[in-house]
Amino acid sequence: MKLLGITAGRPGGNSEILMKEALMAAEEKHNAETAWFNLHDSKILPCTGCEACTMRVAMKHEPPECIHKGKDDMDLLMAELAAADGLIVSIPSFCMQPQGIWRVFTDRWLPYEWALQKQAGLVEKAPDRVAGLITVGGSTENWMTMTLASLNVSMFMQSIKVVDMMMATGCARPGHVVLKDNFIEQAHQLGLNVAHSLTIPYDEVKYLGKEQGWCPVCHCNLMKKGKPHWDGLYFKYECAMCGAGGDFELRDGELVFVLAENGLEHCRIFTEGRENHGVEIGMVQRTFFENIGEARKKMAKYKAYNPRKVI
Ligand SMILES: Cc1cc2nc3c(=O)[nH]c(=O)nc-3n(C[C@H](O)[C@H](O)[C@H](O)COP(=O)(O)O)c2cc1C
Repeated sequence: MKLLGITAGRPGGNSEILMKEALMAAEEKHNAETAWFNLHDSKILPCTGCEACTMRVAMKHEPPECIHKGKDDMDLLMAELAAADGLIVSIPSFCMQPQGIWRVFTDRWLPYEWALQKQAGLVEKAPDRVAGLITVGGSTENWMTMTLASLNVSMFMQSIKVVDMMMATGCARPGHVVLKDNFIEQAHQLGLNVAHSLTIPYDEVKYLGKEQGWCPVCHCNLMKKGKPHWDGLYFKYECAMCGAGGDFELRDGELVFVLAENGLEHCRIFTEGRENHGVEIGMVQRTFFENIGEARKKMAKYKAYNPRKVI
């Protein structure tokens, strides 16, 4: 089994230490072949939002290639991801979210997304891969609220099953986490859980980590009030991460999120849920092109208006 560690922390810092603890555990017990990289050591150009990748698929049925192809390290890093059976992703919390370079990296994943590759007829299905997610912060979990959910979003974009998640709190200075045996042990177990998940049939792989929150599907802790979807689907409440829909019920004095019968219809964790979103993107793009004459006329005044541009 091949395990790939990805971090974005300071060299020798808390994220790197926990990632290495997880990799070491998998190597010791399961003889995993391990490798890792720190995103700060690579060149990654930001996504320009040009939509060339999705437009190529939706409008022309061509492969979803990025306009940056060959200009930075993305192909090399994504080849490592594609070759790995399991990932250990260990990213610091900055302002309650994953550190920015992770978002720059994962915004570029769209052309590599397996659902999009499938839509373009390039692959039948995604490879069977699993991940363990780690985040580190100087504060309590209250200041890390969106980090695991955001890391998890990136995993479903690549059709990777998340089998464990952890938050190491109260770690400010680089290396601080070695003073906290509980987090070192948790990272060790996370590495074992990722490796173990690779020894069983993929359809039996389950979440093995500590329960993080409301959602019974993705185990994340962010919920939102429902709004009608593009095709009319509506749930009273939805998981903000995976889109599982349902309602809250009071059970033994505790609020519990209960899935609706059709609550997984747009669930982004599953390829079908994301394919549905692919249909939505194609439909939205077409509505623009069908009305391009009117749009050009209305855009003219914004093109003509030129206040001082700073850069
Ligand atoms: C700009 C910035 C923002 C941060 N925001 C948070 C935060 O919102 N919540 C938190 O718990 N820690 C926050 N931290 C602390 C880091 O997450 C913490 O120092 C962590 O150990 C860094 O990981 P590393 O040692 O792998 O580099 C922040 C640090 C910086 C520099």
